[in-house]
Amino acid sequence: MTAACPLCLPALPLDPPSLDASGQCPACHQIWPALQTGGLAIPVLLPDAAQGEVMAAQVAQLLHDPSLLHQWADGEDPTLVALANGLLTYAQAHYGQWTEAGLPHPDLSWLGGWLPEDLPSGSALVLGCGPGGELAALAGHRALQGRQVVLADSNLAALAWGQWLAQDGALALPWRSSATRIAWSQAALPAAEHQQMAAAQWVCADALHPPWPAGSAAVVISLALLDTVSDPIALVQQVEALLAPGGVWLVASPWCWQNRVTPLPRQLERFVEGADLVGGLQALLTGQEIEGLGAGLRLERHADNVPWALQMHPRFQANYALQVMLLRRA
Ligand SMILES: C[S@@+](CC[C@H](N)C(=O)[O-])C[C@H]1O[C@@H](n2cnc3c(N)ncnc32)[C@H](O)[C@@H]1O
Repeated sequence: MTAACPLCLPALPLDPPSLDASGQCPACHQIWPALQTGGLAIPVLLPDAAQGEVMAAQVAQLLHDPSLLHQWADGEDPTLVALANGLLTYAQAHYGQWTEAGLPHPDLSWLGGWLPEDLPSGSALVLGCGPGGELAALAGHRALQGRQVVLADSNLAALAWGQWLAQDGALALPWRSSATRIAWSQAALPAAEHQQMAAAQWVCADALHPPWPAGSAAVVISLALLDTVSDPIALVQQVEALLAPGGVWLVASPWCWQNRVTPLPRQLERFVEGADLVGGLQALLTGQEIEGLGAGLRLERHADNVPWALQMHPRFQANYALQVMLLRRA
């Protein structure tokens, strides 16, 4: 699953030009930015390369001086506020259990029980991974053995901290110790989690414009992503295209729509008629509600009300209930 040029990919979805070692597209010659973290780089393949370049420079500054995080979180720039909040919430959610402070975190251990082993060849892709904790929860899983794992998110700050922890195995992580304060707690990954995470590829990408060829993923995992994008219908289409035949999509969502993020007409449950919303959303993702959408996906397993508890700070915990589906591409 070699990353391709997000600009050229729509025209050549099956065989897009791969970027060269310097991040340049051989077809359109765009040079894509990257964030250098230690000896590694995170390619920034958001469709707007100029915006990606600015974000890469900002996050490089934050890596150099992590005390800037407070300024970002309290500032006026909505992009920096979002980068800071994503890092703060999900660093704790994904790695809180391995911090010295023993920070509260949601239980993601159920993910392993949902990942089947009968999979075609292809990569495993975690979309909307934040700092990448889904992969730590899947450490040593047989379905991942010998498989390339790609962790992708649009929040470069969250990715940078995840990759830094994955490289070094130990790191101070930021968390909100009150509504207005940020504290740091040392985290150390256990050996199996460290080994699994260290082998992953990290890519800053927009899930609505994924920079990989069609059919290249054997597994796509998206936890709490569908209701955080501007166009969930486009996301379903993209995941369906990314999956190889026989590949699976493990999708979990609390359907916690926010009008400022997802415009009302794109919120998936608006397409469901009748009282059975849970069944309606299953039908929607398997081609039975909107013509063409999810037509190649079949429901293999389903659960409702899977708990997902996120601590925003010690006096504020959000308790979500996830609908979880395992969908297989025919
Ligand atoms: C609710 S958080 C969930 C994080 C993680 N999957 C988890 O469950 O703990 C949603 C994540 O999706 C990312 N995200 C939102 N829109 C995205 C997009 N268009 N492309 C890639 N990532 C996106 C956010 O940056 C954030 O990390």
